[in-house]
Amino acid sequence: MTSSSSRVTAQLELKAPPYPLDALEPYMSQKTLEFHWGKHHRGYVDNLNKQIAGTDLDGLTLEEIIVKSYNKGSPLPTFNNAAQAWRPIWNHDFFWSSMKPGGGGRPSGLVLELIEREFGSVEALLNEFKQAALTQFGSGWAWLGYVEGIAVNPSASPEHNKLVVVQTPDAVNPLVLDFYPLLVVDVWEHAYYLDYQNRRPDFVSTFIEKLISWDAVSERLEEAIAQAAHRVFLSSSL
Ligand SMILES: [Fe+2]
Repeated sequence: MTSSSSRVTAQLELKAPPYPLDALEPYMSQKTLEFHWGKHHRGYVDNLNKQIAGTDLDGLTLEEIIVKSYNKGSPLPTFNNAAQAWRPIWNHDFFWSSMKPGGGGRPSGLVLELIEREFGSVEALLNEFKQAALTQFGSGWAWLGYVEGIAVNPSASPEHNKLVVVQTPDAVNPLVLDFYPLLVVDVWEHAYYLDYQNRRPDFVSTFIEKLISWDAVSERLEEAIAQAAHRVFLSSSL
């Protein structure tokens, strides 16, 4: 190993949120974004850059590192640290784009259709999502995800596809679980303590009512369905 080497040939870059740092005011302050993105998220990227320097992962994109370090569920020993280190980075990128200025409101189109079919109403879904966020003990994440029926049953038809609410501890990431992520809220304390102190319920309610980007959820659902259809096509043409 070259752990003493300071050679860094291709640094991963910290991706900025898709809006200015003050754009989510007053629901998420600029100060929170400056710390959460500018310090915590940046720290994860710096840490991963140190982990991969001089290894075979050096110079790859984050997505390539994810695929290579996960190694179909059996991370190679060399990649173990990096396999852990990419998760908070990916999760944070996904979290920033789960929000938008002027967010909240109600979903529409296919997202609304699937929510009503699976949960009965948007209110019921949001209540379950909020409970997942509040009952995640300690640090973690609450997700809305899409599960394709074929993942559970190869002969399942499209109507078996469904939405699920999932909570994950620490930096566990859905790319290693069996659902396509559509939405996430970060419930690590660093996500809300500057604006809400220890009031996680207030933070999660505000996230739901004022910050969620249903446009992002809708785009992600379309991508998930397209990917699922591609996989069905590939498996049926073998
Ligand atoms: Fe975070």
